Amino acid sequence: MGATVLLGITGGIAAYKAPLLVRLMVKSGLNVHVIVSRSATEFVTPLTLATLSGNPVCQDMWKNRDKPSVEHISLADAADMAVVAPATANFIGKLANGVADDMLTTILMAFNKTVLICPSMNVNMYRNRILQSNLERLRTFGYHVMAPGSGELACGWVGEGRMPEPAKIFGEVELYLGPKDLNGLKVLVTAGPTEEPLDPVRFLTNRSSGRMGVAIAKRASTRGASVTLVSGPIKVAPPSGVKHVQVRTAMEMMEKVLESFHDFDLVIKAAAVADFRPETFQKEKIKKDKFGTTIKLVRNPDILATLGSRKSHDQIIVGFAAETEDAIQNARIKLKNKNVDMLVLNDVGKPGAGFDGDTNIVRLMFRSGEEEQLPLMSKEDVADQILTRSLGLRGKPNG
Ligand code: CTP
Repeated sequence: MGATVLLGITGGIAAYKAPLLVRLMVKSGLNVHVIVSRSATEFVTPLTLATLSGNPVCQDMWKNRDKPSVEHISLADAADMAVVAPATANFIGKLANGVADDMLTTILMAFNKTVLICPSMNVNMYRNRILQSNLERLRTFGYHVMAPGSGELACGWVGEGRMPEPAKIFGEVELYLGPKDLNGLKVLVTAGPTEEPLDPVRFLTNRSSGRMGVAIAKRASTRGASVTLVSGPIKVAPPSGVKHVQVRTAMEMMEKVLESFHDFDLVIKAAAVADFRPETFQKEKIKKDKFGTTIKLVRNPDILATLGSRKSHDQIIVGFAAETEDAIQNARIKLKNKNVDMLVLNDVGKPGAGFDGDTNIVRLMFRSGEEEQLPLMSKEDVADQILTRSLGLRGKPNG
């Protein structure tokens, strides 16, 4: 790849895995500059990191007093991306609050390109609200935060807090350094379920987690698009760098989507919109003795079909279809009736497909009648396929 990556290592036990990450990055042709915090050197030696990276390890602000260049600025300028793995609670707290008291935090303060943070710590530290609020703050400033793995932790606890495996982190780095083939494109993605309230404590919803839509928003953004994500209540964090509009009901989603629909080149409707809502919303909690056993429902508008009927000739619209029987036939009908350019059929009955999990099995179906069955793959890879095919529909070269 030839790009330059800064790898910050802070003082957690997972630092012992950092040399593997250096190795993977160097093997793929990246130029890696390692910056260690003082406590990181208790877990991994600068000599190991310098040997593997082929570059001097940066540690001390005040070591090279006789050098004319300002090292923290020149390193920040030279790099295309920065990764911090492992990132401790202390480091995250400092970065989120503008504290620059060592080489790593100072370099990052001067760094204006992609930064990927890989938290690693004890599960209770990870769940601590201060830490979570610091991570949220970093996300709102555009930092990318990788979700930690879950399992047995070095401290003996079991839960989330493990540093993602080096191969996984490397996979993310490759994504961020990958082609920006969606540059200049405005993309609207909808994700997650909607909630249709019956009274202040009850609502109708479905099993959608929002993972598929969030994966699409994330990949579109890392590939250079300007992305707006309109979502119902999703179970995963919205990606950094994406404008997130949170809604609750199908009617609210419809309003937000229609508001700016014509500003977008590509609209991908991955949301599992509720087809029905209770006819009336009861302001007070419904008491069982005063309520019958029947809830009267009314139909929600079909947002996708509305967009299909209003779209201009240069807009691409992608819909989803969640089916459990006669999947292909039903999806072909939806493709036509909703006037979309591509339909992503999700056979939610198949193991590995549909709601919640990290994988999906989809069939891409086009207006032209062309269809392509994709094998089981991660939702992020499915997202890439959808985006690449959408780009193709705009008659642009695929990047
Ligand atoms: N959709 C929508 N508005 C609705 C219902 C669905 O925009 N009120 C969109 C979804 O976002 C998805 C597509 O339509 O892109 C298909 O959704 P799906 O639930 O598979 O189909 P429905 O049209 O709701 O039909 P049915 O539930 O009868 O299968």
